[in-house]
Amino acid sequence: MNKLYMGTNTKMYKNREETVEYIRELREWIPQIPENMELFLIPSFTSLESADRALQGSGMVLGAQNMGWEERGAYTGEISPLMLKETGVKLVEIGHSERRHILGETDGQENRKVLCALKNDLKVLLCVGETAEEKDGGMADAVLRSQISAGLRSVPVGKISGVMIAYEPVWAIGEQGTPPEAGYIRQRHAALKEILGELYGKAGRKVPILYGGSVNEKNAETLIAVPYVDGLFIGRSAWDAERFYRIIVRVYQKWCTLPVC
Ligand code: PGA
Repeated sequence: MNKLYMGTNTKMYKNREETVEYIRELREWIPQIPENMELFLIPSFTSLESADRALQGSGMVLGAQNMGWEERGAYTGEISPLMLKETGVKLVEIGHSERRHILGETDGQENRKVLCALKNDLKVLLCVGETAEEKDGGMADAVLRSQISAGLRSVPVGKISGVMIAYEPVWAIGEQGTPPEAGYIRQRHAALKEILGELYGKAGRKVPILYGGSVNEKNAETLIAVPYVDGLFIGRSAWDAERFYRIIVRVYQKWCTLPVC
């Protein structure tokens, strides 16, 4: 069964109380998630335990925004997969553009996190995407290729079903971001499918690829209809529960009319 993937990362915005209230509202709007849809929420670390309680029985998947690359050790300030699992986390987001470009994380570090997460049976959402300069220099696909091959280095084919990719062009994310044209997204997602296929064959082509970056109520239906887009990863437009719900409904209805459904 093909699935539609939808999710949000609330970055460093919602505190614990706001996260729990957000989940409460979301559950009111979405009492039941369709079987062929995976909905995930990625709140702040300090909200995880409360969020897990608030999500019980909802079918929504709880994720963490980052993770250290070891299970334990002298890594002040880091959080291990074992600790994340204690809070109910099932999914970990790795390599968001803000981690790479503001906090200076490298492909090598993302790779260590990916391997450690998979070893501990956490699902991985690996974020990739080119900067504006790389796009303008015609380097987008080369950047994606190197981020994917480096980020997934040593991940065996047997573990690849635990990975999802979020394609988020750096220049499309946040207040200053502009969403790319559908044709541009199609080309990048097609390139990603090809790279994953080269690396992992049939299993690689099945890895879900979500689009993220300035997704909103107006463009979400168009974006989900772009070939090779398996879901949407949303920031600002998802942080109001009712608005997120409206986007989810529209996207799901549209997706159900597509041949991939
Ligand atoms: P945005 O954020 O939807 O607010 O552009 C996307 C992201 O950072 O993943």
